[in-house]
Amino acid sequence: MTNPLHILTTWIDDARDAGDDDPSAMALATATRAGLPSCRIVLCRGVGERSVRFFTNYESRKGVDLGENSAVAATFYWRSLARQARLEGIAAQLPTSDSDAYFLEHRPRGHRLQSWASRQSAPIASLDEVRLRYTEFEKRFEGQIVPRPDYWGGFEIIVDTVELWTSGSDRLHERRYFKREGDSWLESLLSP
Ligand SMILES: Cc1cc2nc3c(=O)[nH]c(=O)nc-3n(C[C@H](O)[C@H](O)[C@H](O)COP(=O)(O)O)c2cc1C
Repeated sequence: MTNPLHILTTWIDDARDAGDDDPSAMALATATRAGLPSCRIVLCRGVGERSVRFFTNYESRKGVDLGENSAVAATFYWRSLARQARLEGIAAQLPTSDSDAYFLEHRPRGHRLQSWASRQSAPIASLDEVRLRYTEFEKRFEGQIVPRPDYWGGFEIIVDTVELWTSGSDRLHERRYFKREGDSWLESLLSP
């Protein structure tokens, strides 16, 4: 049995080796409770046996969407490899201990301060508002480790389906489709 998420990990590594600056960038689609969709790029920050994770502001537009409707879709595209990967699944907030660990171990101080300064997705009059808040938080946390704000953290997408697309000549693209059944993956092939 092939686990398509193992292949996803390999493809992200291949894209990095091919010189892609953001090999883990994925378009993440969410929808409101009423089903109105929106889509944006986020960075995939880990691929597991049946999940992928990303980090964001829980009060952002995507965070609010996910509070109402946990169904998501995500798509990676690597031009250098002529490959695409699509995922669908259900997102849930990561345990706070995982978000703390990521925030403290992987986010530089400036990024941590920015998480305090920016109310992601809220309307602002100008970026000066955010700059001002940044300097306020710089003072507030001077000489201290910048802690994770409660509203910032990770989501884990428990993946139900994966499609791995490889470009072929004469539009004969290969589309391997995987559906998860518990810990197993059922594979089929889709017409291009
Ligand atoms: C290459 C790239 C990577 C990004 N990575 C993230 C990310 O990991 N998390 C995040 O919240 N926003 C990330 N963003 C910003 C989002 O695309 C988006 O502007 C922001 O999350 C607000 O989206 P929302 O209003 O739909 O919630 C990234 C943008 C780009 C272009």
